Amino acid sequence: MFSDNQIFGAPLAGITDKPFRRIIRMFSPNAPLYTEMISCHSLVGAHKNCLRNFDRYDDEGNIGAQIFGADAKLMGDAARILQDSGAAWIDINMGCPVPKVATRSGAGANLMRDHKLAEKIMRAVVGAVQIPVSIKTRLGWDDAHRDWDELMHIASDCGIKFAALHGRTRAQLYMGAAQLPQITDDIKIPVIGNGDIKTSDDVSRVLELGYCGAMIGRGMLGRPWIIGQIMGQCDVPDNIGVVVLRHLAYMLEYYGEKNAIPMFRKHAAWYSAGIPNSGDFRIKVNQISDTKQLVAEICKFWGCEVNI
Ligand SMILES: Cc1cc2nc3c(=O)[nH]c(=O)nc-3n(C[C@H](O)[C@H](O)[C@H](O)COP(=O)(O)O)c2cc1C
Repeated sequence: MFSDNQIFGAPLAGITDKPFRRIIRMFSPNAPLYTEMISCHSLVGAHKNCLRNFDRYDDEGNIGAQIFGADAKLMGDAARILQDSGAAWIDINMGCPVPKVATRSGAGANLMRDHKLAEKIMRAVVGAVQIPVSIKTRLGWDDAHRDWDELMHIASDCGIKFAALHGRTRAQLYMGAAQLPQITDDIKIPVIGNGDIKTSDDVSRVLELGYCGAMIGRGMLGRPWIIGQIMGQCDVPDNIGVVVLRHLAYMLEYYGEKNAIPMFRKHAAWYSAGIPNSGDFRIKVNQISDTKQLVAEICKFWGCEVNI
């Protein structure tokens, strides 16, 4: 997974789908990227309304498929399906704080307070596949339970190959600044630091704390080149409109016009943020449901030629 690329693209539900990963790949061909989190139930049941359940990863390079769930056997089955689909590694979600996942289903962040279940799931997934297995977690359930290091020890005993640590507790959700602890010698697996990382200085600070890599999440929104830029593999594109059009084309191809256009609106907002007249642009884009019109608005806003 690591090769010479220490910057990982985080899993972001509703965002790091196949079209977005293709766009990131234009700028950073080798970066380790995660899928969105995938429910083991949905995957093993192969729910037909979820396109992602039928993705293949062979042609995508370094992709970690992230699964969530609280049923160890199903998690192992899901991991095997993703291995067969060409994922480079499997990641177990141990940090998602949303009630549907963490409290009602006992998955995600719940595994930070149920280490026995976490261990059972890690052993089942590691035993089910030949590819590496990682975990992604937070500092702990809340301030009184910042026991991420204990989870790292269990993970290492279970054969987990590396971990990503988001510098917040479950109780913090996404509030306050992320604070990553120092990685000490007793932590036996490589740890990747995550939370509020957006610049090469941020990456350097994380590496100085003993992390083996840094993971960028929200910093990628509207800036799919950020990993390549920090790695020195690309500059900010001269004409961002061309990237926006390419991203739209990939989404149309993957989801079809009816679904792609509403889903693309949030990306249009992120790409245009901070540019003069972006408010008017967003209002227009939110009213468009036709590809031709959307392409014309994008070309007008960024001053580029139609290329899709
Ligand atoms: C919209 C959104 C969706 C997310 N989806 C996932 C997910 O599917 N799996 C996961 O492990 N973390 C998920 N996260 C957490 C991120 O991967 C990351 O840990 C968090 O945003 C902190 O990193 P950042 O400050 O670089 O964004 C999500 C975060 C956001 C904001």
